[in-house]
Amino acid sequence: MSWSIYTNSTDRKQLALEESLYFTGNGYIGIRGNLEEENASSDSIVGTYINGFYDDVPIPYGEKMHGFPDYQQKLLNVIDPQSIVIWVGTGEDREKLSLLTGKVVDYKRALHMDKGFSERYIHWRSKQGHELKITFKRLASFKRKNLFFQQIFLCPVTKNIPIQIISSLNGNVTNYTNPNDPRVGNDASKRLFVKHMKQQNGQSYIELQTKVSELSVAALSELKVHHDHVTYNHFMQNGELISKATFVLKEKTTIGKRTFFADTLRYTNLEQTLGLAREEASVFSFFDIQTEQQDYLASFWKKTDIIIEKDHSLQEAIRFNLFHILQSTGQDGRSNIAAKGLSGEGYEGHYFWDTEIYLLPIYTMTNPEMAKKLLFYRYSILPQAKQRAYEMGHSQGALFPWRTISGTECSSFFPAGTAQYHISADIAHSYIQYYLATDDVEFMKQAGAEMLVETARLWMDVGHFTKNSFRIDAITGPDEYTCIVNNNYYTNVMAKQNLRWAVKICTFLQETDTECWGKLKSRLNISYKELDCFEKAAQKMYLPVDEKLKINPQDDTFLQKAKWDFKHTSKDKYPLLLHYHPLTIYRYQVCKQADTVLAHLLQEDEQSEVVMKNSYDYYERITPHDSSLSTCVFSMMAARLTYLDKAYDYYLQAARLDLDDVQGNTKDGLHMANMGGTWMGIVVGFAGMRIKESGLYFRPQLPTKWNKYTFSIQYKGRMLHIIMTKKTFTIELLKGSPLLIHVWDKPVQLINKEVITNSVSRGMLNGKSIYF
Ligand code: BGC
Repeated sequence: MSWSIYTNSTDRKQLALEESLYFTGNGYIGIRGNLEEENASSDSIVGTYINGFYDDVPIPYGEKMHGFPDYQQKLLNVIDPQSIVIWVGTGEDREKLSLLTGKVVDYKRALHMDKGFSERYIHWRSKQGHELKITFKRLASFKRKNLFFQQIFLCPVTKNIPIQIISSLNGNVTNYTNPNDPRVGNDASKRLFVKHMKQQNGQSYIELQTKVSELSVAALSELKVHHDHVTYNHFMQNGELISKATFVLKEKTTIGKRTFFADTLRYTNLEQTLGLAREEASVFSFFDIQTEQQDYLASFWKKTDIIIEKDHSLQEAIRFNLFHILQSTGQDGRSNIAAKGLSGEGYEGHYFWDTEIYLLPIYTMTNPEMAKKLLFYRYSILPQAKQRAYEMGHSQGALFPWRTISGTECSSFFPAGTAQYHISADIAHSYIQYYLATDDVEFMKQAGAEMLVETARLWMDVGHFTKNSFRIDAITGPDEYTCIVNNNYYTNVMAKQNLRWAVKICTFLQETDTECWGKLKSRLNISYKELDCFEKAAQKMYLPVDEKLKINPQDDTFLQKAKWDFKHTSKDKYPLLLHYHPLTIYRYQVCKQADTVLAHLLQEDEQSEVVMKNSYDYYERITPHDSSLSTCVFSMMAARLTYLDKAYDYYLQAARLDLDDVQGNTKDGLHMANMGGTWMGIVVGFAGMRIKESGLYFRPQLPTKWNKYTFSIQYKGRMLHIIMTKKTFTIELLKGSPLLIHVWDKPVQLINKEVITNSVSRGMLNGKSIYF
C-alpha cells in the first residue's frame, strides 16, 4: 500500500507537471518524465540533468557595483536520451503512436517508490485498425550511477503489425526559460556544443562541451530489439543520432535502450568510462537492474520510512517526498541537493541553505554516511567561501554563497541573496548536529573544526560590540520580504551557536588530541585570544525581547513598520513577490516564510516558552507562506507549542505540496526543502525529537486523526525504532548499547525497549497538565 503513485490523465496541460512528479534519478543523473513517443511536445519541459554539471553564465547588470558576481553557474539540460517514437503500419498510412491520435483504449502511468522505476501502459488502436499494448519502463540505477535504462514491452492485440521504432540520442539541447518568473532562469542562449558524435557497432556516442566552464558531458546509447527479424538503420540528423529498427510485431517483444552518462567533473576519459560502464551492465536485463534497484531501496526504506497508519494520502506523500529526495541527493562529495533536486530547472539547479536546514537532518538521523558526503561538499567549497568573504570586504572568515553549484556566489539580487549571511551559520549548525548525532570525532578533525572556526571568524568581522552587546548589522534573515536589517534574531541566535561551538570543538581537540590541535592551531593561525573573543561575542549576542509584546522582534525595526493589509489583498496577488516591487513589500510587516519561528525551532533553549508562544502567534498572523519552506516549520513549531490541530493542518499543506501542485509551479521542479520538512514534521514536529549536547530528547504527540506513526533513527551508532500510538510511546533499541534519553524532559534509561504509557504526565503547559 502507498508505494506507488498513479495517473491516467492524458491532458496535455498536465504534462509538464507530471514530468516533475514522475522524474527518475539516482543522485547523479536526473531525467524528467517526458513521454518517449512525444518527447518534443510544446507542453513539455524536456530535461536531463547531471548533478552539479554547469556552465558559467555572465550576469548582465544595468548598474554593477563592487562585489557583484560577474558569472553565475547554471545547471545544464544535457544530452536527451528519452525519445523513442513508434510508427505503426506501412507506407503513407503509417501512424505515429500517440496519446493524441488513434484510440487510447486504456492508459496508466505509475511511479514505484519501493521498486525504483516508473512505467506507462498504453492500450492503443490505430485508425487503420492495428491494436497493441505497450509498456514503457524506465529507471536511473542507484547502483550503476551512469546508467539510465528504458524498456519497452510490445504486445500485439491484432495480428502482424508492421512497426518502426525511431530512437534518438539528442545533443541539440538548450535550457528551459521563463522571463516572467524570477524563480526560473531567463537566459535562452545555447550553452552546450558538439565536440564529438559518432555511431559504431549500433552504439551512439555524443560528447558535448560547455561554452564557458569548458566541462564536457558524454552519453553512450544503445537500442536492442529482442526479435528474430529486425532491420536496424543508424544515422545522424541535426545534432541527433538516430537508431531505426523495423520489424513485424507478431508476438510479445521487448526492446531495451540503455544510455550511460559521464562528465569531466568526475571522469578524465569519458569514452572509456562509458565503454566500461556499458560492458559491465550489458549482461543485465532490465529485470536484473530493477532487482538491484529494489534491494538498494529496501535498505533505504528500512532506515528512512515513516509509517502513518490508515492514512493513505499522507503515507503516499511521505514516501513520494523521501523517494524524490533520495533521487536528487549527490552522493559523491562534490555535489549536493539542488532546491528542485534533479527534477527540473527552477532556481537553475542551485544549492541553497535548504540542504542544511531542511534536508540534512534526514540523513544525519537515518544515514550518517550520506550526510557526511553532503557536509564534505560544503567543505570542498570552503576556499571559495573564504575568497567571497574577502571580496565582501571582510578581513577574515568564510561567507558561503547564498546560491551556488561550484562554490562561487550566483545571486545577482544581493538584498535577498548575498545578504543572507545566515547560510554560514546554517552550515555550521548542520556540522554541529551531525557531530552530536554521531560522535564522529574524526570528521571534526578532518573538516568540522576548520568549518566552525572559519564561519565563526565571519561573525567576528561582520558583527561588533556596542552597548555591552554583540550586534550584527546590514544582513538579511530567512524572510526574504524583509531585507538588509540590523540584528535579525534568527541570524544572531544561529551565529551565537556557531561562535560557541567553534570554541567548544577547539577546546575539545586541545584536551583530547594535542597533536591534531597543534596542527590545526598553526594551520589556521588560531590564538587563545581569538577563542576568548568568540566566547565573549556568543555570550553578549544581542537577542532582544520586546517588553510589551513579549516576543522576539524579527530585527531592530521590524515592529515599527506598518502591517501588510491582508484583508484587501486578493488571492491572485500571492505570492506577493510576483506582484509587488520588493521595496513595497519591505516597508511592511509581512513575512514570506518562517524566520523567528524557525529560530525557535532550531534553538529552543534560547527563549522562554512564553516568548516562543507569543512570537508564534504574532508571526503566524503576518506570514502568507509565499515560500514553500514555511508551512512545515509552522507545523513543527505548532507541535512544539502543543497546538496539535494547527500542527496537523500545516502538516497536510506541506506534505502534498507537490503531489497536489499547491503552489502551481511544480512543473519547474519539486520543492526539495519542503519535502525534507515532511520527514522533519513527524520526527522533529510530532515526535518532538531534538539532538542536544545533553542528549536525545522527545516530546511525542499524536494528531487526533491518527492512530499510530512509526519511524527509525540512528544515534551515536545505535538504531532506535519509535512507535507512537494513542496510548503509548515506545522506543526500541534495535542496535547498540543502552542510552539515557529524555521524554518530555524526564530522563528515561533505554536498555532494550521502553514503553511509556499515557498515565505519565508530561508536565504543565499554559496552566494545564498534559498527559499522553
Ligand atoms: C526561499 C528561500 C529558499 C529558496 C530556494 C526561496 O523562495 O525564500 O528560503 O532557499 O526559495 O528553495
